[in-house]
Amino acid sequence: MAFGSMFCCGKFSDRSERGKKQQAWRVFSLKELHAATNNFNYDNKLGEGGFGSVYWGQLWDGSQIAVKRLKVWSNKAEMEFSVEVEILARVQHKNLLTLRGYCAEGQERLIIYDYMPNLSLLSHLHGQHSAECHLDWNRRMKIAVGAADGIAYLHNQATPHIIHRDIKASNVLLDSDFQARVADFGFAKLIPDGVTHVTTRVKGTLGYLAPEYAMLGKANKSCDVYSFGILLLELASGRKPIEKLTPVMKRSITDWALPLVCERKFDEVADPKLKGKYVEEELKRVVMVALLCAHSRPEKRPTMLDVVELLKGTSKEKLAELENIELFKALQVADYNDETSPAEDSSDFISEEKDSKQELKEEIGLRDENDH
Ligand SMILES: Nc1ncnc2c1ncn2[C@@H]1O[C@H](COP(=O)(O)OP(=O)(O)OP(=O)(O)O)[C@@H](O)[C@H]1O
Ligand SMILES: [Mg+2]
Repeated sequence: MAFGSMFCCGKFSDRSERGKKQQAWRVFSLKELHAATNNFNYDNKLGEGGFGSVYWGQLWDGSQIAVKRLKVWSNKAEMEFSVEVEILARVQHKNLLTLRGYCAEGQERLIIYDYMPNLSLLSHLHGQHSAECHLDWNRRMKIAVGAADGIAYLHNQATPHIIHRDIKASNVLLDSDFQARVADFGFAKLIPDGVTHVTTRVKGTLGYLAPEYAMLGKANKSCDVYSFGILLLELASGRKPIEKLTPVMKRSITDWALPLVCERKFDEVADPKLKGKYVEEELKRVVMVALLCAHSRPEKRPTMLDVVELLKGTSKEKLAELENIELFKALQVADYNDETSPAEDSSDFISEEKDSKQELKEEIGLRDENDH
């Protein structure tokens, strides 16, 4: 790959080539980031993920930033870090979170992003903003299409193509206009092997993992499609990817939704917070596309480009196909979940392993609430 020319300098050389909104990335000094975040004060903390903590900050020019401070690093990965950041900084799409730059001083590795004032989809669906009901149906539809557009760009137009590996509600951020901005793409492969929490991160998050990815550990585009399907169901229903029925019994969102869809009870799938205010055709479309994306067999999943078209409803032919898919004609839960496949066993195993992380994240979600 022709990386040489990409790394000659830290800024785009031709300013006129950039759109008005596009910003050049730059290298930040640690001193500047200390000043912006009040020395990484606990009060500035937005949350914590697999890589480390994220802090809110304000630069000298008044602009707001989110600073991700990586907690584990190895010497070997040092070069890769800047190479990767430089690639990601060149990815420009209206539905992807823009990187503003990075800082690599001593042992410290930090990534600087635009701050997203409406935080994450997670905070609106299940977290600190969920009671405020900011997500009416139009906004949800716009978020679904926008996030799909962003992922489709990563899969098909970014150079090199990027597989996200961790599509989930906390990685879909919302700008001041509630437009979706997909975050945290492309970093998973930088993580050195053999570090426990990092291994967990590379494998994704409980409830969003494609079964074959759980078994073989190899990410490809269709794993992102699976995770996006779970995210769509979550967005339409307001439910979590995994629901605890009893302390020991759990149910996945697909197991809950599929029978309702087969019985055409879409009104029962819709988030009660919508109070019945949604466009029926759109809700049906979102839920059916979601289930198709989250099919246990990767070959049955659509591509992200198909998903964008289906969600936008631009192709009448594809919409008609969606209605005809056997999956929705009869209850085929066994086929859908591929219960005989070894992948299922394996994903059960990994799900258990991941449970503690999910719970940890939920705790963190609560802590966020106190932070703001
Ligand atoms: N630019 C941003 N603006 C506002 N909030 C952000 C921004 N970046 C991250 N966050 C929030 O900070 C929290 C921590 O983010 P982080 O990405 O570290 O963890 P995560 O998304 O929960 O998990 P993962 O490590 O798998 O991405 C999340 O709630 C996330 O939504
Ligand atoms: Mg994240």
